[in-house]
Amino acid sequence: MNKSEPIIEVRNLRKTYKTGKVTVDALRGVNLLVPAGEFLSIVGPSGSGKSTLFHIVGGLTPPSAGEVIVAGQDVSAVGDAGRTELRRRKVSFVFQKFNLLPNLTARDNIRTALYIAGLPTAPFSDDTKSILELLGIAGRLDHKPSEMSGGEQQRVAIARALATRPAILLADEPTGNLDTANSLAVLTLLRDLNRRLGQTILMITHNTEAAEYADRIVHMRDGRIVETSTPD
Ligand SMILES: Nc1ncnc2c1ncn2[C@@H]1O[C@H](COP(=O)(O)OP(=O)(O)O)[C@@H](O)[C@H]1O
Ligand SMILES: [Mg+2]
Repeated sequence: MNKSEPIIEVRNLRKTYKTGKVTVDALRGVNLLVPAGEFLSIVGPSGSGKSTLFHIVGGLTPPSAGEVIVAGQDVSAVGDAGRTELRRRKVSFVFQKFNLLPNLTARDNIRTALYIAGLPTAPFSDDTKSILELLGIAGRLDHKPSEMSGGEQQRVAIARALATRPAILLADEPTGNLDTANSLAVLTLLRDLNRRLGQTILMITHNTEAAEYADRIVHMRDGRIVETSTPD
């Protein structure tokens, strides 16, 4: 794919949640183009619609209106099966709470993701091995989450997300549960992965320092993008 070609195209995206008699307009007309290979931060106050945008781009939630094209696939036009396929093949998530399977070692957490994606689970590919090396966790593969620090767990979660070689990595507050030193390490690694692998990364953060690690920063408020900036 051409590096400047958009890998994500969002046009007039709207999302309304209806819970009983209550409706919430979480997204009120979002427009966003993300070129392949970009590292983009999304910042904004709690409730501004950041996670909703991620869930739609990642195929977890259907949009209410508008157009969303992710890696050539029109997310608004596909049904549940199409969104499942998108999640299996095109996008990976990293969350604030790591979400590793607690009873499995790092290796088996990664193998589970490969298995779900329909990829060979053993031996690890050279790509996966170099990701593990880059993330500094090649020596931690036999450890369970409870035997690792938060920073190590998040690095395993990133390795698990990238092992399937997704077109897009969606990271929702990936440093939200980490101390300053581990946050810096994870942010530096995300930037390295972006630069070395050309990995497209979208990262939600409410930490403005963390946002500066990206190529471009999108600011959301009340379900809209209100500003786009570049790091200082
Ligand atoms: N599943 C849901 N059902 C109902 N309302 C929701 C749901 N998810 C989010 N919302 C509401 O949508 C708005 C945007 O939420 P969210 O996308 O999580 O914002 P952010 O990630 O920026 O904090 C909030 O008002 C939130 O309460
Ligand atoms: Mg959120």
